[in-house]
Amino acid sequence: MAKLAIIGGTGLSALDGLNILEQHSVSTPFGSPSGAILEGELHGKTVFFLPRHGAKHTIPPHKINYRANIWALHYLGVDRIVAVAAVGGIRDDLAPSVLAVPDQIIDYTYGREQNFYSDDFTSDKHIDFSYPYDENIRQQLLQSALNNKIMMVDGGTYGATQGPRLESAAEIKRMAQDGCAMVGMTGMPEATLARELNIAYATCALIVNWAAGLSDGLITMAQIEQTIAGGMTQVKQILADVIRSQ
Ligand code: HPA
Repeated sequence: MAKLAIIGGTGLSALDGLNILEQHSVSTPFGSPSGAILEGELHGKTVFFLPRHGAKHTIPPHKINYRANIWALHYLGVDRIVAVAAVGGIRDDLAPSVLAVPDQIIDYTYGREQNFYSDDFTSDKHIDFSYPYDENIRQQLLQSALNNKIMMVDGGTYGATQGPRLESAAEIKRMAQDGCAMVGMTGMPEATLARELNIAYATCALIVNWAAGLSDGLITMAQIEQTIAGGMTQVKQILADVIRSQ
């Protein structure tokens, strides 16, 4: 049976209404995941949930053990992941509060463990990553948004930066020239690790601020938190639909 997991990002540290059946504390060859993986029932279906920054949002993007998280989900039999991410908007149509389902990635991170095979590399480990996101899950997210009359942008390149600081205006200008539509700190290596283990993976992105240099003034956490509070309600509606239609 197909098993769906939600990876929660900033603003989604818990799944409201989840009737928890089990808490899996998985130890992996790569260390510990961000916390116990919750298995529960929501909208009549089984779903797994893992907040990538930890239940209390204490793990910054560059310290997340992405390998342990993805390995643990795979160990539990998860074969589909919807990753929720708060991002900065770069492209004109990606203003704060807009939802988007990216279709490409550019990785600007460094020093993160990128694969499961660093110590045991053989030639067949060059995974195809031409299209980083699973098209079926992407379409399911878009359909769920449509069902709920929520506007959701189809496509756009997610630029993954190292963090935890936000970018400079010049960095965002360069990313825009590269073709990035949005910027976040956690999309990589999460997506490529899921691909390595054959887990279908897509991202539901909530734009929470204009990226650096694209609005008057500085980016404040207060603004971001305010946008998250409103936007996550819509994200949860969309997730509910995806869970129901499993
Ligand atoms: N940059 C990087 N990551 C982010 C941003 C941003 O502007 N907003 C939310 N996550």
